[in-house]
Amino acid sequence: MPTTDWTRHHVLSLADFTSAEYDTVLQTAASFQEVLSRRTKKVPTLQGHVVANLFFEPSTRTRSSFELAAKRLSADTLNFASASSSMTKGETILDTAKTYLAMGTDIMVIRHKEAGVPNAIAQEMDRLGVKVSVLNAGDGQHEHPSQGLLDLFTICTLLDSDSPRLELLKDKKIAIVGDILHSRVARSNIWSITASGAELHLAAPPTLLPKFFADFGKDRAGKLFVHWQLEPALKDADFVMTLRLQKERMTTHLLPSLREYHQMFGITRSKLQLCKPNVKVLHPGPVNRGVEISSDLMDDPEFSLIQTQVTSGVAVRMALLYLIGTTRG
Ligand code: NCD
Repeated sequence: MPTTDWTRHHVLSLADFTSAEYDTVLQTAASFQEVLSRRTKKVPTLQGHVVANLFFEPSTRTRSSFELAAKRLSADTLNFASASSSMTKGETILDTAKTYLAMGTDIMVIRHKEAGVPNAIAQEMDRLGVKVSVLNAGDGQHEHPSQGLLDLFTICTLLDSDSPRLELLKDKKIAIVGDILHSRVARSNIWSITASGAELHLAAPPTLLPKFFADFGKDRAGKLFVHWQLEPALKDADFVMTLRLQKERMTTHLLPSLREYHQMFGITRSKLQLCKPNVKVLHPGPVNRGVEISSDLMDDPEFSLIQTQVTSGVAVRMALLYLIGTTRG
């Protein structure tokens, strides 16, 4: 493992991540990627630690990925799903967290449909003076730091598999296309990509991309541009990140029809011709096939990094669990 002076206790947001922290996560994840390619894919690093996955909102890949990451590090894992829990009997979120604390949990991985819940639990743990770390696994429309980091790792390892690092993105053009308004993934990616010095282009219809997003990248190393058409974002792009239309978070009709959306903003083979010839496409999943990305493109390994993102996710989450798990005194 790389030697590190990591001091972060909770990972709640990428907004204040330093370049050194990005590089530490990338290098540590690269080491775990190597572990995951061995015949025995397990290390004893977090033996005796308890990692609780507290998912108050549905999830397939993030929950399974954190669980596998914890198991590969030899931690004991506890899984909680709100629908089958005592929350249905009226227990509060903080009381649920304290129940897991009383069982000796060391790291809480938290997903919630409301922004700020992981933060509130982290504050409560700090107030109680207990050495429990909180990892935000997606809170409302706020942030999804582990997804932002795994997207970064996926891109950086493609550019240099031996030494993934933030500066590799410096002269790249990256487009994020889709339901940016409702996306915590976009918000985390905006922080990491603008920190790298890359050019970041956001594209969506105005109802899904309010003007205030242009202020996000201010005073950062990179440059951020907002477009209400797809073409300027795709022109000469090196990477295109597509996002799911989050119908569950749309309170009013923000789009005329899914068909029209696909025609204007859906990523297809022919639209990719605007990009650099070796462009790659990412999507955090779950995908609405044929809406934000055409079905054939999604399955084409020449362009699609979607499965690589899922694989990278385990190594990146191992890195995060390792870094915060071994930093606690
Ligand atoms: C994302 C999420 O839950 O924020 N998915 C994920 O974690 N892989 C994106 C989404 O739900 O569209």
